[in-house]
Amino acid sequence: MKVLITQKLPFNVEEYLKDFELDYRKESTPIPYEELYERGKSAHGIISMLSDKIDKNLLENCPNLKVVANYAVGYNNIDVAFATQKGIVVCNTPDVLTETTAELAFALMISIARRIVEADNFTREGKFTGWSPELYLGTDLFKKTVGLYGFGRIGQAFARCCKGFEMDIIYHTRNRNLQAEILTGAKYVSFDELLEKSDFIVIIAPLNDESYHKFTINAFKKMKNSAYLINIGRGPIVKEDDLVTALKEGLIKGAGLDVYEFEPKIHPELFNLKNVILLPHIGSASVKTRAEMAKLCADSIISVLKFGKKPKNALN
Ligand code: GLV
Ligand code: GLV
Repeated sequence: MKVLITQKLPFNVEEYLKDFELDYRKESTPIPYEELYERGKSAHGIISMLSDKIDKNLLENCPNLKVVANYAVGYNNIDVAFATQKGIVVCNTPDVLTETTAELAFALMISIARRIVEADNFTREGKFTGWSPELYLGTDLFKKTVGLYGFGRIGQAFARCCKGFEMDIIYHTRNRNLQAEILTGAKYVSFDELLEKSDFIVIIAPLNDESYHKFTINAFKKMKNSAYLINIGRGPIVKEDDLVTALKEGLIKGAGLDVYEFEPKIHPELFNLKNVILLPHIGSASVKTRAEMAKLCADSIISVLKFGKKPKNALN
């Protein structure tokens, strides 16, 4: 049976999946849609990236396909409902990336608050000519209010990081999670309260009909002028044009972004703003986690194709 892997992975998949015929595209750039479409036609299994659009059109043309293992926890790139209709198992990579992704969110929060990237650039440019009382004054995290939009595994792990800084943690999601509230000390609030009370808002939610464009100019107007926005979820949760306006007009103080509305395109005006940090979607990018994600994808393929069993990380 044939398994298509759409990008080079930091794990020895060739050895691990040696019972299969591998169509391994050993490149580190996203596969073009037409190529995915052609190479997918004969595949029984696909290990896909979050940048691969696995839509109805593609799934209809893969007669042998039994399993898609997405190398990500988010799966908005896949038409899961249609895959379900076709009897194709879809898997993602939960759990293994939880702490790694939460740590990146924290890194963005503390870096934007303390102007780490800006100050590093200043030093590299040879501008550090002596200690000064007003050089790169930033914002404290200690005892501030952090608001989470999304409160799944990653959100809860992030909340645990915040406890060490004695931050007040509030959150908003579609469904309240009382058990997680007890474990983390987070308080549930309405979306408006989240906007009005937070010193830092951290988007840590999946992209779906509910979250799409949740953050528009109306939301930014309700936020404190001193507040920061962090997005490590998915770009289209934020209307990027409106974010640029909010940053330029001082409706909010700054933003730390790992994801973009039209990824990999980034709004050109964001490059000109000093009060933003722009990362190239590296939330789960630690050596250990990226290897574990690859192993989990490979295990999902083996489980379905070799043993005919749905793995526990199946989404449908
Ligand atoms: C990364 O964005 C993921 O969904 O794993
Ligand atoms: C998934 O969205 C998670 O938070 O793990």
